[in-house]
Amino acid sequence: MLAGHQSSIREPGAYILSDWAKFPYVIVRGSDGRLRAFLNTCRHRGARIVSGKEPCLKAFICPFHGWAYGLDGQLKGITKSYNFPDINREDSSLVELPVVERAGLVWIHPTPGASLDLESYLGAIGDDLDHFDLSGLVSYRKNLVIKRANWKLLIKTYLEGYRVPYLHKNTLSQAFKKGIISHYEYGYHIRLSAARTNFLEMPSVPREERHILNYASVYYSIFPQAFFIMQPDYVSINMFFPLAPDQTLWTHEMLYRPSQFRGDAGQEALEKRFNYTN
Ligand code: FES
Repeated sequence: MLAGHQSSIREPGAYILSDWAKFPYVIVRGSDGRLRAFLNTCRHRGARIVSGKEPCLKAFICPFHGWAYGLDGQLKGITKSYNFPDINREDSSLVELPVVERAGLVWIHPTPGASLDLESYLGAIGDDLDHFDLSGLVSYRKNLVIKRANWKLLIKTYLEGYRVPYLHKNTLSQAFKKGIISHYEYGYHIRLSAARTNFLEMPSVPREERHILNYASVYYSIFPQAFFIMQPDYVSINMFFPLAPDQTLWTHEMLYRPSQFRGDAGQEALEKRFNYTN
């Protein structure tokens, strides 16, 4: 599953923490530049090790009894270690999870030792993400809210354009050519492309100068929990995590290209877009 965007994890010690308590992981950039993912649970008695308040990590120190692990997950120190004469430190490293980076995004597998084959998981959708290449973007802001709704219902709301001419009659609807939406599926992933009002101008533009986002908004539902909104100058990543059958944690992170938003006017435009998509 998608864990987040690369921009928050470029420097050694930078980390991404799971937003979802049911799958507590931490992904960290080591001083060797390698990205590693671990279950965020101590091997002693299972306490959460990283709280999210740490600006960056130099090691993992468990707040419960002070056991220390390196950023490679190896157990380095046991407080009052004479109480643990039989412990085998090599068997007590943090539990490592498969993690990979692609197209500026970080992907994780919840099962230790599993193979994380993004190529076959994403198929042609992965080629799309490579094409958009989100690695040059940075995060503007991230928001977390809890909604009283089932998580699948929230994702499904994004998957239909039926409502747009009615619910968004005087706003969103004005920007799109009515009824022209293409739908593509690969496995459980879905791509929707909604034609903008200038769509029919595209054929007159030389092929090498065409950029799809100038003529259509492109949306991706990446199974199981992520939904992307691709716009010419920003990208919104929404994620939906079930807390209960009728309760969902919804995260929204907006990414942008700094060269397209300069100065105060740029900040104002970003704020407007963030509030609009939030
Ligand atoms: S639970 Fe982490 S050191 Fe005891």
